[in-house]
Amino acid sequence: MSTQPRRVENLHTDKGKVPVYATGIVEQPWDDYSDDDHATWSTLYARQREILPGRACDEFLAAQDAMGMSADRIPKFSELNRVLAAATGWTLMGVEGLLPELDFFDHLANRRFPVTWWIRKPEQIDYIEEPDLFHDLFGHVPLLMNPVFADYMEAYGKGGVKAHGIGADALQNLTRLYWYTVEFGLIKQSGGGQAGGLRIYGSGIVSSKAESVHSLESAAPNRIGFDLERIMRTRYRIDSYQKTYFVIDSFEQLIQATQPDFTPIYARLSRQASLPAGEVLDTDTVYQRGTGEGWPTDADV
Ligand code: PHE
Ligand code: FE
Repeated sequence: MSTQPRRVENLHTDKGKVPVYATGIVEQPWDDYSDDDHATWSTLYARQREILPGRACDEFLAAQDAMGMSADRIPKFSELNRVLAAATGWTLMGVEGLLPELDFFDHLANRRFPVTWWIRKPEQIDYIEEPDLFHDLFGHVPLLMNPVFADYMEAYGKGGVKAHGIGADALQNLTRLYWYTVEFGLIKQSGGGQAGGLRIYGSGIVSSKAESVHSLESAAPNRIGFDLERIMRTRYRIDSYQKTYFVIDSFEQLIQATQPDFTPIYARLSRQASLPAGEVLDTDTVYQRGTGEGWPTDADV
């Protein structure tokens, strides 16, 4: 989450230089998308929408429908912003890449969501290391239509600004929470789904065909009930499927559990060792203990 932002001065497009504003904000250069770019969007969009019913949580699918993202061409941020503004007051802003942490938190705290404007190349269709437009827009933006999740994201941004003022360890604890909820979270949904009613809400999963299947159906990973402090101690993988997915009961649970002041929690956690990504504790609520098949053996982040 915290790699160096790319220099926005490098942003030259077919139409010349795209306006670049403060803290890396870019006007979406929509006219510059090529036919290949639109085709990449529509291929990925169709592929995910085909496999997600019954796998993604109903809130995600409903929110995406309500938002009305175009399936056949890259959506215009300006059009989505009209819908979002009316629903929850969030605004999408184009960015060139990852922002400095404090800028990112400040945007979220003010209900602005940074979306990478460029889309992956056809040869990167299945996997790309850095977040691109498909991950950000398809994966993150739909749930901003959901009032409860929209509030969680704002609260997270405010918590980020605060953690930034506390120090690097607090930030690391908070980043793990983002990772295991916003990016890779599962939710229990009564009324079915795979793997005993588990569904996906994390954007890192929902924007990946392979991980959408793996996270729910593979025997390899652990699936463990949400526990705030436990998650904030747990390392993670950035280069492979997660070894552990954490399961919430509802978005309300997420809001409730993260409401308390984290300052004393950070202090407590600073005296505890971090946990390897694949560890299972006696105190865990275990939905599934993973077989560990295929897990990388080098250290987790
Ligand atoms: N309650 C947290 C704090 O005091 C802020 C927060 C809210 C963090 C929601 C993450 C998610 O720092
Ligand atoms: Fe992301």
